[in-house]
Amino acid sequence: MKIPKNHILVIFGASGDLTYRKLVPAVFDLYDQNVLPEKFAILGLGRTALSDEAFREKMKEGIEKFALNKKDASVTEKVNQFLDKLYYHAFNTKAEEEYAGLKDKLFTLDSQLGTDKNFIFYLATPPSMYTVIPCHLAKHGLSSEEDGFRRLIVEKPFGYDLETANKLNESLLKDFDEEQLYRIDHYLGKETVQNLLVTRFSNAIYEPLWNRNYVSHVEITSSESIGVGNRGGYYEGSGALRDMVQNHLLLLAGLVGMEPPALINSNSIRNEIVKVLQSLRPIKEEDVEKYVIRGQYVGSTVKGQAVNGYREENGVNPESRTETYVAMKFFIDNMRWGGVPFYIRTGKMLPTRVTEVVIHFKPTPHHLFASNSAIAQQQNQLVIRIQPDEGLLLKFGMKVPGAGFNVQNVNMDFHYSELADTYLPSAYERLLHDCMLGDSTLYSRGDAVKAAWEFVKPIQEAWKNNDQIKVHGYPAGTWGPDVADDLIEEPHLTWRYPCKNLANDGNYCEL
Ligand SMILES: NC(=O)c1ccc[n+]([C@@H]2O[C@H](COP(=O)([O-])OP(=O)(O)OC[C@H]3O[C@@H](n4cnc5c(N)ncnc54)[C@H](OP(=O)(O)O)[C@@H]3O)[C@@H](O)[C@H]2O)c1
Repeated sequence: MKIPKNHILVIFGASGDLTYRKLVPAVFDLYDQNVLPEKFAILGLGRTALSDEAFREKMKEGIEKFALNKKDASVTEKVNQFLDKLYYHAFNTKAEEEYAGLKDKLFTLDSQLGTDKNFIFYLATPPSMYTVIPCHLAKHGLSSEEDGFRRLIVEKPFGYDLETANKLNESLLKDFDEEQLYRIDHYLGKETVQNLLVTRFSNAIYEPLWNRNYVSHVEITSSESIGVGNRGGYYEGSGALRDMVQNHLLLLAGLVGMEPPALINSNSIRNEIVKVLQSLRPIKEEDVEKYVIRGQYVGSTVKGQAVNGYREENGVNPESRTETYVAMKFFIDNMRWGGVPFYIRTGKMLPTRVTEVVIHFKPTPHHLFASNSAIAQQQNQLVIRIQPDEGLLLKFGMKVPGAGFNVQNVNMDFHYSELADTYLPSAYERLLHDCMLGDSTLYSRGDAVKAAWEFVKPIQEAWKNNDQIKVHGYPAGTWGPDVADDLIEEPHLTWRYPCKNLANDGNYCEL
């Protein structure tokens, strides 16, 4: 792996959960693989008063719990070496006048360490600060790249709707250039998401089939087996459409649907993703009920344990209409995908945690071996598993040994875990390293974020303006409301169920 230029990673919100669980453990993993520059430091920032020592102690705990690459005792020594690179500066992030002190601290540290005035600013604060911090940084000359690189990583959410997303974009672009902005979507950092590109564009067998002539429909599922836990308050203001569909699932659709990029570089790839998002056929407000199903989990018994419904969770309004489940059908209006339905669904408290893309191929035009209708309609499926148990599964028909020509479906199954010595970096590890290298390929560009919000807008509007549109209850531990099945029009097709319902019917579950 390439080694980035010397720099300081400046984390706003360093006393928070994301820094503790994800960011610092990911940077440690990079350090442990010797892919950080020789001169490097993390400067944690926050209002919480912490000494360097107290910050290091807390981060040590985070590394011990969450770093992936900490397999043997020799790592203890490395953790201690790494902790020496961590500093903390307490200041009021909101107060513009305090940025002079931050600048002093940063430049003093820079001249002590020799980090060449290169700074990456990471916004790991509540989103309300995403417009405040960049503006204060700019006023103190910390966005200008005259003497070193200045990059800004912004965490999701990128707005709550089209208007707020546009405002955020405008605000960021006042102080930083698009090339300096890194909008993080951790889905793009996942190895298997990137593998979608490799599967498609490096294999001669798939790409010729990857279009309306051979694909009957595409299905994307991202399910979670847990509820909102203690994040009910946050989730009430979000819901599945904002939390999962607008960003992760539409991005996956973009990667599945995009044309081959001219080059493997940031702009070529992101240009193609944007084109897909801009080609999504808008769902009219009056058609939302037909194309989009929303649901909310209700109390149930899962594996013999009683579980709460969403409305009983802490911080949730007992009459909440926030959706914990969304299933949707849409089309990409372009030459490649004209007429091919895309079905996506996501939900909490479903039977298992899985994210997968399924390409359903059309059946053969002539059913030579079909002695019954089920076989006649049999379709090849390519299942791209994003998580867990990352891999690729191809389902195809084989002859049943013996008399006649009976066909059964079999699996050709590849698991990443079977590759010897494979170390799958965490998404944050990959993305942070890319930003350090100045590579924004796997970050969301402003126009893609905008296009995704434009698509989602009529759905938000319909839900806001029409309270006749149902929020369907579904028992926790099931695959969501039954009406979601009706989205798939063909009578012989259903969603792929990677495992059975767990509510009230035992604990059988396999992927
Ligand atoms: N945690 C995750 O897994 C995750 C995943 C994806 C995205 N995100 C996003 O990442 C961001 C950080 O998440 P988090 O879970 O780390 O949140 P968090 O635990 O609440 O921490 C955020 C930090 O920001 C600072 N902060 C809080 N309120 C502030 C305010 N009004 N003004 C200035 N600073 C404030 C706090 O530090 P001080 O009080 O010391 O200033 C706090 O420690 C959020 O925007 C979240 O949506 C988080």
